[in-house]
Amino acid sequence: MEAVARDLSSRYGFERIDTPIFERIDLFARGLGESSDAVEKEMFRVSGAKGSEEERSEWALRPEPTAGIVRAYIEHGMQVRPSPLRLWMLGPMFRYARPQAGRYRQFTQWDVEVIGDPGPMVDAELIELAHRFYAEVGLRGVVAHLNSIGDAVCRPGYRDALVAYFTPMASRLSPDSQRRLAVNPLRVLDDKDLDLEIAAGAPKSLDFLCDACRAHFDGLRELLDRLDLRYAINHRLVRGLDYYTRTTVEFYVAGREGQQDALGGGGRYDGLIEVLGGRPAPAIGFGLGIDRTVIAAQEQGAAVSAEAPLVAVVSSTPDASDRRLVAATELRDGGLRVRADGLRRSLSKQLEAGAKAQARWAVILGDGPSDRVILRDLDSGDQRELNLSEVLSVLSAGQ
Ligand code: HAM
Repeated sequence: MEAVARDLSSRYGFERIDTPIFERIDLFARGLGESSDAVEKEMFRVSGAKGSEEERSEWALRPEPTAGIVRAYIEHGMQVRPSPLRLWMLGPMFRYARPQAGRYRQFTQWDVEVIGDPGPMVDAELIELAHRFYAEVGLRGVVAHLNSIGDAVCRPGYRDALVAYFTPMASRLSPDSQRRLAVNPLRVLDDKDLDLEIAAGAPKSLDFLCDACRAHFDGLRELLDRLDLRYAINHRLVRGLDYYTRTTVEFYVAGREGQQDALGGGGRYDGLIEVLGGRPAPAIGFGLGIDRTVIAAQEQGAAVSAEAPLVAVVSSTPDASDRRLVAATELRDGGLRVRADGLRRSLSKQLEAGAKAQARWAVILGDGPSDRVILRDLDSGDQRELNLSEVLSVLSAGQ
Protein backbone atom coordinates (compact mmCIF):
# COMPACT_ATOMS: atom_id res chain seq x y z
CA MET A 1 0.00 0.00 0.00
CA GLU A 2 2.85 2.34 0.77
CA ALA A 3 4.30 1.60 -2.67
CA VAL A 4 0.96 2.51 -4.27
CA ALA A 5 0.84 5.74 -2.24
CA ARG A 6 4.36 6.73 -3.29
CA ASP A 7 3.66 5.92 -6.91
CA LEU A 8 0.40 7.91 -6.96
CA SER A 9 2.07 10.88 -5.24
CA SER A 10 4.53 11.03 -8.09
CA ARG A 11 1.95 10.37 -10.82
CA TYR A 12 -0.19 13.27 -9.56
CA GLY A 13 2.74 15.68 -9.43
CA PHE A 14 3.29 15.93 -5.66
CA GLU A 15 6.67 16.67 -4.05
CA ARG A 16 7.80 14.77 -0.99
CA ILE A 17 8.11 16.51 2.37
CA ASP A 18 9.18 15.01 5.69
CA THR A 19 8.60 16.92 8.89
CA PRO A 20 10.00 16.03 12.32
CA ILE A 21 8.31 13.30 14.33
CA PHE A 22 8.01 15.62 17.30
CA GLU A 23 7.38 19.34 17.42
CA ARG A 24 6.31 21.99 19.91
CA ILE A 25 3.00 21.23 21.59
CA ASP A 26 1.98 24.78 20.93
CA LEU A 27 1.99 24.17 17.16
CA PHE A 28 -0.54 21.34 17.47
CA ALA A 29 -2.64 23.22 20.02
CA ARG A 30 -2.89 26.28 17.77
CA GLY A 31 -3.22 24.31 14.55
CA LEU A 32 -5.61 21.53 15.49
CA GLY A 33 -7.53 23.47 18.15
CA GLU A 34 -7.43 23.16 21.94
CA SER A 35 -10.79 21.39 21.95
CA SER A 36 -9.89 18.75 19.37
CA ASP A 37 -9.58 15.21 20.72
CA ALA A 38 -6.10 14.96 19.24
CA VAL A 39 -4.90 17.83 21.45
CA GLU A 40 -7.17 17.50 24.45
CA LYS A 41 -6.90 13.76 25.08
CA GLU A 42 -4.57 12.08 22.64
CA MET A 43 -1.26 13.91 22.69
CA PHE A 44 1.93 12.02 23.57
CA ARG A 45 4.17 14.50 25.33
CA VAL A 46 7.94 14.34 24.94
CA SER A 47 10.25 15.69 27.60
CA GLY A 48 14.00 15.94 28.06
CA ALA A 49 16.05 14.15 30.71
CA LYS A 50 15.45 15.05 34.37
CA GLY A 51 17.15 18.30 35.27
CA SER A 52 17.69 19.32 31.64
CA GLU A 53 16.49 22.56 30.15
CA GLU A 54 13.88 20.60 28.25
CA GLU A 55 12.60 18.56 31.15
CA ARG A 56 9.37 20.48 31.03
CA SER A 57 7.22 18.96 28.37
CA GLU A 58 6.97 21.46 25.54
CA TRP A 59 7.04 18.89 22.79
CA ALA A 60 4.71 16.25 21.50
CA LEU A 61 4.84 13.37 19.03
CA ARG A 62 3.00 14.51 15.92
CA PRO A 63 -0.67 13.45 16.01
CA GLU A 64 -1.07 14.33 12.32
CA PRO A 65 1.01 15.87 9.53
CA THR A 66 -0.85 19.00 8.39
CA ALA A 67 0.20 21.38 11.19
CA GLY A 68 3.88 20.43 10.77
CA ILE A 69 3.72 20.81 6.99
CA VAL A 70 2.16 24.27 7.30
CA ARG A 71 4.78 25.20 9.92
CA ALA A 72 7.53 24.14 7.50
CA TYR A 73 5.83 25.97 4.60
CA ILE A 74 5.87 29.23 6.56
CA GLU A 75 9.29 28.78 8.17
CA HIS A 76 11.04 27.98 4.89
CA GLY A 77 9.34 30.65 2.83
CA MET A 78 7.69 28.14 0.49
CA GLN A 79 5.04 30.74 -0.42
CA VAL A 80 7.54 32.20 -2.93
CA ARG A 81 7.64 28.91 -4.82
CA PRO A 82 5.37 28.41 -7.84
CA SER A 83 1.81 28.08 -6.60
CA PRO A 84 -0.06 25.88 -5.96
CA LEU A 85 2.38 23.78 -4.00
CA ARG A 86 1.62 20.03 -3.93
CA LEU A 87 3.21 18.09 -1.07
CA TRP A 88 2.97 14.52 0.17
CA MET A 89 4.17 12.63 3.20
CA LEU A 90 4.04 9.05 4.41
CA GLY A 91 4.93 8.18 7.96
CA PRO A 92 4.03 7.40 11.56
CA MET A 93 1.62 9.51 13.61
CA PHE A 94 0.88 9.16 17.32
CA ARG A 95 -2.32 9.57 19.29
CA TYR A 96 -3.05 8.27 22.72
CA ALA A 97 -6.23 6.25 22.77
CA ARG A 98 -7.19 2.95 24.28
CA PRO A 99 -5.86 0.58 21.60
CA GLN A 100 -8.61 -1.33 19.81
CA ALA A 101 -9.24 -2.65 16.31
CA GLY A 102 -8.25 0.08 13.87
CA ARG A 103 -7.27 2.54 16.57
CA TYR A 104 -3.59 2.51 17.45
CA ARG A 105 -1.24 4.72 19.38
CA GLN A 106 1.18 4.64 16.46
CA PHE A 107 -0.30 4.46 13.00
CA THR A 108 0.74 5.33 9.46
CA GLN A 109 -0.80 7.99 7.28
CA TRP A 110 -0.36 8.85 3.65
CA ASP A 111 -0.95 12.57 3.50
CA VAL A 112 -1.28 14.97 0.56
CA GLU A 113 -1.65 18.74 0.75
CA VAL A 114 -2.22 21.40 -1.93
CA ILE A 115 -1.46 24.95 -0.81
CA GLY A 116 -2.49 27.95 -2.90
CA ASP A 117 -5.52 26.66 -4.79
CA PRO A 118 -9.03 27.81 -3.80
CA GLY A 119 -10.77 24.95 -5.66
CA PRO A 120 -13.25 23.47 -6.24
CA MET A 121 -11.44 21.66 -9.08
CA VAL A 122 -8.60 20.57 -6.77
CA ASP A 123 -11.12 19.38 -4.14
CA ALA A 124 -12.55 16.99 -6.74
CA GLU A 125 -9.08 16.00 -7.93
CA LEU A 126 -8.05 14.93 -4.41
CA ILE A 127 -11.24 12.94 -3.86
CA GLU A 128 -10.57 11.20 -7.19
CA LEU A 129 -6.98 10.53 -6.07
CA ALA A 130 -8.18 8.87 -2.85
CA HIS A 131 -10.58 6.69 -4.85
CA ARG A 132 -7.77 5.68 -7.16
CA PHE A 133 -5.61 4.74 -4.15
CA TYR A 134 -8.34 2.50 -2.73
CA ALA A 135 -8.95 0.92 -6.15
CA GLU A 136 -5.24 0.26 -6.75
CA VAL A 137 -4.78 -1.44 -3.38
CA GLY A 138 -7.75 -3.66 -4.21
CA LEU A 139 -10.38 -2.26 -1.85
CA ARG A 140 -13.89 -2.27 -3.27
CA GLY A 141 -16.97 -0.17 -2.55
CA VAL A 142 -15.31 2.89 -1.02
CA VAL A 143 -17.59 5.89 -0.73
CA ALA A 144 -16.70 9.50 0.05
CA HIS A 145 -18.79 11.21 2.71
CA LEU A 146 -19.00 14.88 1.92
CA ASN A 147 -20.09 18.08 3.63
CA SER A 148 -19.33 21.78 3.62
CA ILE A 149 -19.02 23.56 6.94
CA GLY A 150 -18.81 27.08 5.50
CA ASP A 151 -16.26 29.78 6.21
CA ALA A 152 -15.70 32.81 8.41
CA VAL A 153 -18.65 34.55 6.73
CA CYS A 154 -21.36 31.94 7.24
CA ARG A 155 -20.05 29.67 10.02
CA PRO A 156 -20.93 32.08 12.88
CA GLY A 157 -24.62 31.96 11.90
CA TYR A 158 -24.50 28.17 11.82
CA ARG A 159 -22.75 28.00 15.19
CA ASP A 160 -25.45 30.20 16.73
CA ALA A 161 -28.16 27.96 15.27
CA LEU A 162 -26.50 24.87 16.77
CA VAL A 163 -26.17 26.49 20.18
CA ALA A 164 -29.82 27.55 20.07
CA TYR A 165 -30.86 24.00 19.09
CA PHE A 166 -28.72 22.02 21.54
CA THR A 167 -28.91 24.27 24.63
CA PRO A 168 -32.48 23.37 25.71
CA MET A 169 -31.60 19.65 25.51
CA ALA A 170 -28.10 19.95 26.97
CA SER A 171 -28.89 17.44 29.73
CA ARG A 172 -29.35 14.74 27.07
CA LEU A 173 -25.87 15.31 25.66
CA SER A 174 -22.72 13.49 26.77
CA PRO A 175 -20.43 15.34 29.23
CA ASP A 176 -17.96 15.94 26.38
CA SER A 177 -20.65 17.48 24.20
CA GLN A 178 -22.00 19.62 27.03
CA ARG A 179 -18.53 21.12 27.42
CA ARG A 180 -18.05 21.53 23.68
CA LEU A 181 -21.38 23.22 23.23
CA ALA A 182 -19.79 26.34 24.67
CA VAL A 183 -16.37 26.06 22.98
CA ASN A 184 -17.02 24.38 19.65
CA PRO A 185 -20.69 23.46 19.06
CA LEU A 186 -19.96 21.86 15.65
CA ARG A 187 -18.13 19.06 17.44
CA VAL A 188 -21.36 18.03 19.20
CA LEU A 189 -22.43 16.64 15.81
CA ASP A 190 -19.56 14.16 15.55
CA ASP A 191 -20.07 12.81 19.07
CA LYS A 192 -20.61 9.06 18.54
CA ASP A 193 -22.93 9.02 21.58
CA LEU A 194 -25.27 11.69 20.21
CA ASP A 195 -28.89 10.54 20.25
CA LEU A 196 -29.93 9.78 16.65
CA GLU A 197 -33.20 11.69 16.87
CA ILE A 198 -31.48 14.76 18.27
CA ALA A 199 -28.87 14.50 15.51
CA ALA A 200 -31.51 14.19 12.79
CA GLY A 201 -33.27 17.37 13.92
CA ALA A 202 -30.10 19.46 14.19
CA PRO A 203 -29.58 22.42 11.84
CA LYS A 204 -27.55 21.47 8.75
CA SER A 205 -24.51 23.45 7.71
CA LEU A 206 -25.51 23.25 4.03
CA ASP A 207 -28.61 25.34 4.84
CA PHE A 208 -26.43 28.13 6.20
CA LEU A 209 -23.80 28.49 3.45
CA CYS A 210 -23.12 31.98 2.10
CA ASP A 211 -23.26 32.44 -1.69
CA ALA A 212 -19.52 31.90 -2.19
CA CYS A 213 -19.46 28.66 -0.12
CA ARG A 214 -22.64 27.44 -1.82
CA ALA A 215 -21.12 28.03 -5.29
CA HIS A 216 -17.94 26.21 -4.21
CA PHE A 217 -19.86 23.21 -2.92
CA ASP A 218 -22.14 23.02 -5.98
CA GLY A 219 -19.09 23.26 -8.22
CA LEU A 220 -17.45 20.36 -6.39
CA ARG A 221 -20.56 18.16 -6.66
CA GLU A 222 -20.82 18.85 -10.37
CA LEU A 223 -17.20 17.79 -10.92
CA LEU A 224 -17.63 14.62 -8.86
CA ASP A 225 -20.65 13.74 -11.00
CA ARG A 226 -18.65 14.33 -14.16
CA LEU A 227 -15.92 12.00 -12.86
CA ASP A 228 -18.60 9.44 -11.93
CA LEU A 229 -17.42 9.29 -8.32
CA ARG A 230 -19.67 7.97 -5.58
CA TYR A 231 -20.32 10.23 -2.64
CA ALA A 232 -22.88 10.64 0.10
CA ILE A 233 -23.79 13.94 1.74
CA ASN A 234 -23.21 13.57 5.49
CA HIS A 235 -24.59 16.46 7.54
CA ARG A 236 -22.75 15.35 10.67
CA LEU A 237 -19.34 15.40 8.99
CA VAL A 238 -17.68 18.36 10.73
CA ARG A 239 -14.30 16.60 11.31
CA GLY A 240 -12.45 16.43 14.59
CA LEU A 241 -9.80 19.08 13.98
CA ASP A 242 -10.64 22.76 14.21
CA TYR A 243 -8.89 24.04 11.10
CA TYR A 244 -11.44 23.04 8.47
CA THR A 245 -13.40 25.40 6.21
CA ARG A 246 -15.86 24.54 3.43
CA THR A 247 -15.18 21.02 2.09
CA THR A 248 -14.92 18.14 4.57
CA VAL A 249 -14.56 14.57 3.42
CA GLU A 250 -14.16 11.08 4.88
CA PHE A 251 -13.86 7.70 3.20
CA TYR A 252 -15.68 4.53 4.27
CA VAL A 253 -16.43 1.12 2.87
CA ALA A 254 -20.09 1.58 1.88
CA GLY A 255 -22.41 -0.09 4.36
CA ARG A 256 -19.71 -0.32 7.06
CA GLU A 257 -20.01 3.28 8.27
CA GLY A 258 -21.61 2.28 11.56
CA GLN A 259 -19.06 -0.43 12.43
CA GLN A 260 -15.82 1.08 11.17
CA ASP A 261 -13.98 4.32 11.77
CA ALA A 262 -13.11 6.31 8.65
CA LEU A 263 -10.40 4.90 6.40
CA GLY A 264 -9.23 8.40 5.67
CA GLY A 265 -10.35 11.98 5.77
CA GLY A 266 -9.50 15.57 5.20
CA GLY A 267 -10.77 18.80 3.84
CA ARG A 268 -10.13 22.42 3.12
CA TYR A 269 -8.33 24.65 5.64
CA ASP A 270 -8.28 28.11 4.07
CA GLY A 271 -7.58 29.85 7.41
CA LEU A 272 -4.86 27.67 8.97
CA ILE A 273 -1.81 29.23 7.35
CA GLU A 274 -2.77 32.66 8.66
CA VAL A 275 -3.52 31.24 12.13
CA LEU A 276 0.02 29.80 12.23
CA GLY A 277 1.56 33.14 11.23
CA GLY A 278 1.82 32.92 7.43
CA ARG A 279 0.41 34.98 4.61
CA PRO A 280 -3.17 33.76 4.02
CA ALA A 281 -3.44 31.02 1.37
CA PRO A 282 -6.24 28.58 0.56
CA ALA A 283 -5.33 24.92 1.10
CA ILE A 284 -6.78 21.43 1.11
CA GLY A 285 -5.52 17.93 1.87
CA PHE A 286 -6.32 14.50 3.21
CA GLY A 287 -4.72 11.81 5.33
CA LEU A 288 -5.45 8.18 4.51
CA GLY A 289 -4.83 5.70 7.30
CA ILE A 290 -2.76 2.79 6.02
CA ASP A 291 -3.53 0.53 9.02
CA ARG A 292 -7.31 0.78 8.65
CA THR A 293 -7.04 0.28 4.90
CA VAL A 294 -5.05 -2.93 5.45
CA ILE A 295 -7.73 -4.19 7.87
CA ALA A 296 -10.55 -3.37 5.42
CA ALA A 297 -8.69 -5.00 2.52
CA GLN A 298 -8.09 -8.14 4.59
CA GLU A 299 -11.78 -8.29 5.49
CA GLN A 300 -12.58 -8.24 1.77
CA GLY A 301 -9.92 -10.85 1.07
CA ALA A 302 -8.17 -8.41 -1.27
CA ALA A 303 -4.59 -9.21 -2.25
CA VAL A 304 -2.67 -6.50 -0.47
CA SER A 305 0.69 -7.17 -2.07
CA ALA A 306 1.58 -5.19 -5.18
CA GLU A 307 4.99 -6.82 -5.39
CA ALA A 308 6.35 -9.02 -8.16
CA PRO A 309 6.50 -12.78 -7.43
CA LEU A 310 9.42 -13.87 -5.24
CA VAL A 311 12.03 -16.35 -6.48
CA ALA A 312 13.81 -18.62 -3.94
CA VAL A 313 17.32 -19.70 -4.95
CA VAL A 314 18.19 -23.07 -3.37
CA SER A 315 20.60 -25.89 -4.12
CA SER A 316 20.53 -29.66 -4.05
CA THR A 317 23.46 -29.79 -1.59
CA PRO A 318 23.64 -28.03 1.79
CA ASP A 319 27.05 -26.44 1.29
CA ALA A 320 26.61 -24.52 -1.99
CA SER A 321 25.56 -21.23 -0.44
CA ASP A 322 28.30 -19.40 -2.36
CA ARG A 323 26.81 -20.53 -5.66
CA ARG A 324 23.33 -19.57 -4.44
CA LEU A 325 24.61 -16.06 -3.76
CA VAL A 326 26.21 -15.79 -7.21
CA ALA A 327 23.06 -17.07 -8.98
CA ALA A 328 20.77 -14.81 -6.90
CA THR A 329 22.90 -11.78 -7.76
CA GLU A 330 22.66 -12.60 -11.45
CA LEU A 331 18.86 -12.91 -11.25
CA ARG A 332 18.66 -9.64 -9.29
CA ASP A 333 20.78 -7.96 -11.96
CA GLY A 334 17.99 -9.00 -14.33
CA GLY A 335 15.38 -7.22 -12.15
CA LEU A 336 13.81 -10.19 -10.34
CA ARG A 337 12.79 -10.28 -6.66
CA VAL A 338 15.02 -12.93 -5.16
CA ARG A 339 15.55 -14.60 -1.79
CA ALA A 340 18.69 -16.76 -1.60
CA ASP A 341 18.99 -19.32 1.18
CA GLY A 342 22.21 -18.70 3.10
CA LEU A 343 22.04 -21.58 5.57
CA ARG A 344 23.74 -24.95 5.43
CA ARG A 345 20.66 -27.15 5.24
CA SER A 346 19.07 -29.81 3.10
CA LEU A 347 17.23 -29.05 -0.14
CA SER A 348 13.87 -29.86 1.43
CA LYS A 349 14.54 -27.48 4.35
CA GLN A 350 15.59 -24.76 1.89
CA LEU A 351 12.43 -25.26 -0.18
CA GLU A 352 10.28 -25.21 2.95
CA ALA A 353 11.84 -21.90 4.05
CA GLY A 354 11.27 -20.45 0.57
CA ALA A 355 7.62 -21.45 0.62
CA LYS A 356 7.17 -19.91 4.08
CA ALA A 357 8.64 -16.67 2.73
CA GLN A 358 5.85 -16.77 0.10
CA ALA A 359 8.15 -17.54 -2.82
CA ARG A 360 6.25 -18.30 -6.02
CA TRP A 361 9.19 -19.95 -7.81
CA ALA A 362 12.26 -21.96 -6.79
CA VAL A 363 15.47 -22.04 -8.79
CA ILE A 364 17.29 -25.24 -7.79
CA LEU A 365 21.04 -25.34 -8.48
CA GLY A 366 22.54 -28.76 -9.22
CA ASP A 367 25.63 -30.39 -7.77
CA GLY A 368 28.21 -29.60 -10.39
CA PRO A 369 29.52 -26.42 -11.95
CA SER A 370 27.02 -26.71 -14.85
CA ASP A 371 24.78 -23.71 -15.57
CA ARG A 372 21.73 -26.00 -15.83
CA VAL A 373 19.16 -25.36 -13.07
CA ILE A 374 15.64 -26.51 -12.28
CA LEU A 375 12.87 -23.92 -12.28
CA ARG A 376 10.01 -25.11 -10.08
CA ASP A 377 6.55 -23.53 -9.84
CA LEU A 378 5.91 -23.77 -6.08
CA ASP A 379 2.12 -23.52 -6.52
CA SER A 380 1.67 -26.33 -9.06
CA GLY A 381 4.88 -28.31 -8.49
CA ASP A 382 5.61 -28.22 -12.26
CA GLN A 383 9.29 -27.98 -13.08
CA ARG A 384 11.70 -27.87 -16.00
CA GLU A 385 15.43 -27.72 -16.62
CA LEU A 386 16.89 -24.50 -18.05
CA ASN A 387 19.99 -22.29 -18.10
CA LEU A 388 20.03 -19.42 -15.63
CA SER A 389 19.75 -16.90 -18.48
CA GLU A 390 16.65 -18.74 -19.74
CA VAL A 391 15.13 -18.56 -16.23
CA LEU A 392 15.63 -14.84 -16.37
CA SER A 393 13.83 -14.42 -19.66
CA VAL A 394 10.97 -16.80 -18.71
CA LEU A 395 10.31 -15.08 -15.36
CA SER A 396 10.80 -11.53 -16.67
CA ALA A 397 8.28 -12.21 -19.43
CA GLY A 398 5.75 -13.41 -16.85
CA GLN A 399 5.92 -10.20 -14.78
P1 HAM B 1 -7.76 12.47 10.67
O1 HAM B 1 -9.15 12.19 10.22
O2 HAM B 1 -7.57 12.83 12.08
O3 HAM B 1 -7.21 13.62 9.72
O4 HAM B 1 -6.86 11.21 10.34
C1 HAM B 1 -6.80 10.68 9.03
C2 HAM B 1 -6.82 9.17 9.06
O5 HAM B 1 -5.77 8.67 9.89
C3 HAM B 1 -8.07 8.56 9.66
O6 HAM B 1 -9.12 8.53 8.73
C4 HAM B 1 -7.57 7.17 10.01
O7 HAM B 1 -7.56 6.33 8.87
C5 HAM B 1 -6.16 7.43 10.44
N1 HAM B 1 -6.12 7.45 11.91
C6 HAM B 1 -6.37 8.49 12.74
N2 HAM B 1 -6.20 8.11 14.03
C7 HAM B 1 -5.86 6.80 14.01
C8 HAM B 1 -5.55 5.82 15.01
N3 HAM B 1 -5.52 6.13 16.31
N4 HAM B 1 -5.23 4.57 14.61
C9 HAM B 1 -5.23 4.23 13.30
N5 HAM B 1 -5.51 5.10 12.32
C10 HAM B 1 -5.81 6.37 12.65
C11 HAM B 1 -5.96 14.16 9.79
O8 HAM B 1 -5.07 13.71 10.44
C12 HAM B 1 -5.79 15.37 8.92
N6 HAM B 1 -4.40 15.85 9.06
C13 HAM B 1 -6.10 15.05 7.46
C14 HAM B 1 -5.89 16.25 6.59
C15 HAM B 1 -4.84 16.49 5.79
N7 HAM B 1 -6.70 17.29 6.52
C16 HAM B 1 -6.18 18.19 5.68
N8 HAM B 1 -5.04 17.73 5.25
